[in-house]
Amino acid sequence: MKNLWIVANWKSNKTIEEALEWVGKVGPKIKKEDFLKVVVCPTFSVLSEVKKAIQVGNFPLLVGCQDLSPFDKGAYTGEESASLLKQLVDLAIIGHSERRYNFGETDQQIENKLTRASQADIIGLLCVQGNETPVPKGCQLIAYEPISAISTGLDNTPGSGQPEDPLNASSIATFFKQQHGQDLEVLYGGSVTGKNVKQFISQKEINGVLVGNASLDATEFIKIVEEAINGA
Ligand code: PGA
Repeated sequence: MKNLWIVANWKSNKTIEEALEWVGKVGPKIKKEDFLKVVVCPTFSVLSEVKKAIQVGNFPLLVGCQDLSPFDKGAYTGEESASLLKQLVDLAIIGHSERRYNFGETDQQIENKLTRASQADIIGLLCVQGNETPVPKGCQLIAYEPISAISTGLDNTPGSGQPEDPLNASSIATFFKQQHGQDLEVLYGGSVTGKNVKQFISQKEINGVLVGNASLDATEFIKIVEEAINGA
């Protein structure tokens, strides 16, 4: 059975207490299945507490970060390098539109980050905005997130909250697989909720979802996971 990825992108949200409450609610509800890859991506400041709580509870949850340094460890004040993050994470979201927009991340920096992730044996989840976003060689997991579909605006203003048409998302996924090989896994992201997740997951070419706003609420996220499994 093909993998089903459900990735929670908390963005810049949640205190340690809120994060642990979420793990305590969601963890016990996730079934241990080989095909199911449920990943929670907290802020750096709560990563280690979240990781510990998942280990203590023996929950089948993977941990991810939302960015990493384009450099190796060393004299790079303020940076989180892949080789150090490997202690805590399995996956890293790389090149999210909010980072491209607010921090001026370039395709070259993003490629460097993907290389660092791969060298540290961290799965790089590259966010692409459309057909024109370059996918570096060797990248195995991407998330198609059209800017117009992200539930908040890129500068934290209200967004459209309108998800992409699932058929369009599927044709973009097909395009990337034709370009980069059928082993490439393609997720969809942008205003995914418990109500609409099935429409995306039921598309043959879509291998999962990247969920922002709706992942913050434990009950809603559990619903997303359940509905996604039903739709797979
Ligand atoms: P959203 O965010 O689900 O709130 O639209 C998705 C993302 O930006 O990763």
